[in-house]
Amino acid sequence: MSKDIQGTTVVVTGGASGIGLAIADAFLQHGAHRLILLDLNAQQADQAAATLNAKHGNKATFILCDVTKDLDNVTKVIIDTYKTVDVLVNSAGIVNERNPRKVIEINLTAVIEWSLKYLEIMRTDRGGKGGTIINISSIYGFMVDPYLPTYKASKFGVIGFTKSKGHEYNFKKTGVRLLAICPGVTKTNLLADYKNFEEKENQEDFVATFDSFPWAEVTRVGQTVVEVFGKADSGTAWVIQGDEPVFDA
Ligand SMILES: NC(=O)c1ccc[n+]([C@@H]2O[C@H](COP(=O)([O-])OP(=O)(O)OC[C@H]3O[C@@H](n4cnc5c(N)ncnc54)[C@H](O)[C@@H]3O)[C@@H](O)[C@H]2O)c1
Repeated sequence: MSKDIQGTTVVVTGGASGIGLAIADAFLQHGAHRLILLDLNAQQADQAAATLNAKHGNKATFILCDVTKDLDNVTKVIIDTYKTVDVLVNSAGIVNERNPRKVIEINLTAVIEWSLKYLEIMRTDRGGKGGTIINISSIYGFMVDPYLPTYKASKFGVIGFTKSKGHEYNFKKTGVRLLAICPGVTKTNLLADYKNFEEKENQEDFVATFDSFPWAEVTRVGQTVVEVFGKADSGTAWVIQGDEPVFDA
């Protein structure tokens, strides 16, 4: 399957920085017509949209959005303004082992709710045009070590949901692909404070483990998501780690 990005309208949650922004940049570079960044960090998002517009022409907009609260009102604005969405990228995410409820709400519940809402809009058996939903999981969505257990629970959940809802059985009815992306450690704001992620008793071993992983440049992740978009079947999960070749996990 080779999917064309040319002319598409793309919505990216958590699009103000890091992986979401790199994916937005890569989609514009490959011909997306309209890029809608959603984020709760207004300052960073404004700057991100301005950078994308300077680079690619005036194709990016920013809408202030908390993914745990604003699904219905923001989606209404998007559909009223742009009529259709071809690609939804769920990239908003946090690490916070001290606040498990918040991690699950942002990293998992919101991903499920946004996927279900856009699936309804896109599905060809209910009058939509079809489309693709890309959910950002992690290598911590399938791999196990002793660290970041709540973050892992959220990312395992994203893979379970995406593979099940995106199963070929469902895809044949809806015409909407669901793909999971599993980045390895990637240089973004999310990891700026990684040395303090774990409880004190685990901290040293955790930092040594993280330091031993191959780190990826965020632009590589953005470009590779475009590559995956062009070829992936619905219900698949793709690992992007360091500069190793991407593979279907
Ligand atoms: N950086 C990594 O090593 C890595 C690895 C695997 C997966 N991921 C995942 O990639 C995704 C993007 O993370 P990143 O590394 O680019 O981090 P990042 O902090 O640069 O980007 C995350 C963005 O999400 C936004 N956000 C957070 N909560 C939000 C909310 N409630 N509503 C709207 N926006 C919200 C933030 O403001 C930020 O702009 C996350 O889901 C993260 O778990 C990151």
